[in-house]
Order: sequence, then structure tokens, then C-alpha cells
Amino acid sequence: MGSRVLEEVAEAYGDGTRWFQLYPASNPRISQSLVRRAEASGYRALVITVDTPVMGWRPRDLRHGYYPFSHGHGLANYLCDPAFRAELGFDPADDPGRSLEYFLRVLAHDTLDWSELTAIRCMTSLPVLVKGILHPQDAQAALQHGFDGLIVSNHGGRHLDGFIPALYALPGIVRAVDDRIPVLFDSGVRTGDDVLKAMALGARAVLVGRPYVYGLAVAGVEGVSAVFRQLVAELDISMIHARCRTLNDVHMTPSPVRLLPDGGNPSF
Ligand SMILES: Cc1cc2nc3c(=O)[nH]c(=O)nc-3n(C[C@H](O)[C@H](O)[C@H](O)COP(=O)(O)O)c2cc1C
Repeated sequence: MGSRVLEEVAEAYGDGTRWFQLYPASNPRISQSLVRRAEASGYRALVITVDTPVMGWRPRDLRHGYYPFSHGHGLANYLCDPAFRAELGFDPADDPGRSLEYFLRVLAHDTLDWSELTAIRCMTSLPVLVKGILHPQDAQAALQHGFDGLIVSNHGGRHLDGFIPALYALPGIVRAVDDRIPVLFDSGVRTGDDVLKAMALGARAVLVGRPYVYGLAVAGVEGVSAVFRQLVAELDISMIHARCRTLNDVHMTPSPVRLLPDGGNPSF
């Protein structure tokens, strides 16, 4: 309770480039406060995640009673935030239950639209990326509203079971954006081949979610480092097989959509 998490992370990073990921709060004053703190702590880009109006229905988490928020984990950025505390009207330590309730109300935001996203974009001079895009029309809207980049992602499949695989959505979005802003990709990247495929389908870079957490669980910092060393080593080998000397050559791979069983044309 009360630790200054995003500032501490910034400090631990030292000179490393860091991006701040924001879930747009249902109360814009809280989003604004988090963005200000991220800027003040030297974060170099803002990522707004738009695919989480509420948490997904996760039967395994339910089965295991896995609710980290209810144990106070994952709230620290908010509990120490001046705007959050002002809206709450009391010290979170005095009533953790009601603080959690308010936090969940702030996080649940099912009326988010482009005007609100644009308002957040205008809160900062940092480049702003939108994470969680899966439809070409949303990609075009992000372009029109002046965003600086996109992350094609289905949140690692954690929200809607049976939804479109993010990789299937990638080619249509790359076409819609037509190189005007960078398109990044995540969800399911596990091997160097996965990186190669995403980049061949037009992603400028990929992000990795769970694998580094698995590395962390198995062997701490060394485990995280091993996950990324292996990923890069695999990518090197895959690039050699694909006759790609540099990552620019990967984008030039002829007809990358052939990598997808349906020719890269998702049904929408
Ligand atoms: C435990 C866990 C927590 C996550 N928390 C966030 C989050 O706070 N914000 C966000 O944008 N994405 C979050 N994600 C989604 C990841 O950023 C990423 O989109 C997803 O994990 C990518 O898929 P992958 O795990 O298959 O690589 C989370 C994922 C996991 C597994």
C-alpha cells in the first residue's frame, strides 16, 4: 500500500527506454494524473490499452480463486496516486475494502470512445500507441485521430475465448495503415519463428507477454534473460533459413500472407 510503483520502476530502469501502459480510467482525472507521473518519471511513450472494458471471464482463475487485486496486488500505482486519493476522499489504508471497490470502478470502463482516447492523447507530448486493435476500421480511426502507433493484440486470448487470432488480424491492419504509423504485434509470440512470421506479415516489432513471466518464475532475472536470449537466437536461425540478412529483408519476404492458411483474409 502506498508505494510509488511507476516511479520506482522508472528508477530501476535507469537510462533504459521505458513505455508506460495505461488502462483509461473511467474518471479522466485519474488517467491524467497517471500520465503526468509517467512523463515526470521519464517514460518515453504512452500505450493506451483499449481492449479491456472489464476483465475477461477466466474459468481457470475462478476455479483457483485467483484474484490478485482482492489481495492488494496490482493496485499500488493507484493507491498512491494523488487524483485517485482525492476522488476516494479517505486514506486507502483506512478502508482497503472500499478502496478496492473504487479501484475496480475506475478500471471498468465500457463507454470508452475515440473522443476520450483523443483527450488522453492530448494530455501528453509523448508518442501515444493504441494497444488491442484487431479491426482495420479501428486502425484507420486511430490514424485519423492522430495516434502514433498501433499494437495488434487480442490480449493473449485472455478476454474473448474463440476470438480472432491476433496474427490473422495483422495483415488487414497493416494494409489499412499503409506504413503511415508503425504497427506492432503481440499475442502468442513464443519462438523466433513466431517473430519472423509477425514481421513478415508487416509488424514493425513484437511484444512478448507470458514467456518472460515464465522465465521469471523458473529462474528470476536469469530466467527472463534466458527467454529473450533464446528468442533472439531462434530468430537469427530462422532468418538465415528465410535468407534474410537484416530485419528489413524480413519485410521484403515475398507474399508473406501465404504464411496464413486463409491467405491473410480474416472474415471481416
Ligand atoms: C498476467 C498478465 C497481466 C497482464 N496485464 C496487462 C496489463 O496490465 N495491461 C495490458 O495492456 N496488457 C496486459 N496483459 C496482456 C499483455 O500485455 C499481452 O498483450 C499479452 O500477454 C500478449 O500475449 P502473450 O502472453 O501470448 O505473449 C497481461 C497479460 C498477462 C498474462
